[in-house]
Amino acid sequence: MAKMTIQKLKNMKVKKEKISMTTAYDYPTAYFVDKAGIEIILVGDSLAMTIMGLDSTVPVTIEQMIHHTKAVVKGAPTPLIVGDLPFGSYNVSKEQAIINSNRLMKEGGCDVVKLEGGEEVAHIVKAIVDSGTPVMGHIGLTPQTVSKLGGFKVQGKSVKAAKKILDDARVLEEAGAFALILECIPENIGKLVTDKVSIPTIGIGGGRFCDGQVLVFHDMLGLFEKFVPKFVKKYAELGVEIVEGLEKFKNEVKDGSFPSDGHVFKGVSEEELKRLY
Ligand code: KIV
Repeated sequence: MAKMTIQKLKNMKVKKEKISMTTAYDYPTAYFVDKAGIEIILVGDSLAMTIMGLDSTVPVTIEQMIHHTKAVVKGAPTPLIVGDLPFGSYNVSKEQAIINSNRLMKEGGCDVVKLEGGEEVAHIVKAIVDSGTPVMGHIGLTPQTVSKLGGFKVQGKSVKAAKKILDDARVLEEAGAFALILECIPENIGKLVTDKVSIPTIGIGGGRFCDGQVLVFHDMLGLFEKFVPKFVKKYAELGVEIVEGLEKFKNEVKDGSFPSDGHVFKGVSEEELKRLY
């Protein structure tokens, strides 16, 4: 398969072909996502919860994002790889944002970066894009500033809040963002934004009318049991299969049926062995 590009994604919006996207944080998951033909991989800072066991994405560092991005890039040559700029790595100044975007691209090897926020980060988006790095925006529920939003809840429910989401989308498009994540907003606002911008929108709890959909790998495949948001559909129960496999292994070790003849190596004959005793 040929490498996914920003232009191909834009063409998909025009042709009304839906875009699929999921997260990955390491080589094996990236390998399987690529094999499934998913168009975009996000090396998301959601790794804070899914693989580090933290309660929020705030503590994630740019070094950790680079580390995981490198592994994902190795496993998935085909999808567009989005590196997530973590909290505090782009909000200080345009210079800081460009330096960290460059690091994520040069050291991590991703194709583009993503950052959270609307109008208030538009100047940062423009600076990164002008420096040569494509940017995906992320509006609606923005997990990095969840305390400011008053928790993980649906955004844009009033007319004023919905207008703010549409304004954010337009300003980000104007600043040069090539696509937008729309997280946890009413379906009709997801449709409104999708109709009003020319760049692809990818929903996560953004309703059926977005140009594409993204889910967190661990949520959709049953690998994260702490909390499952309403917008998640589970496509597999890998956690259950993992525990079943591990229990079988444990039981076979204990009853001696593993390793069996097929899993051991042969050496000297019994005769020769006797001489070694
Ligand atoms: O980090 C992440 O996984 C994300 C998704 C929720 C879009 O930003």
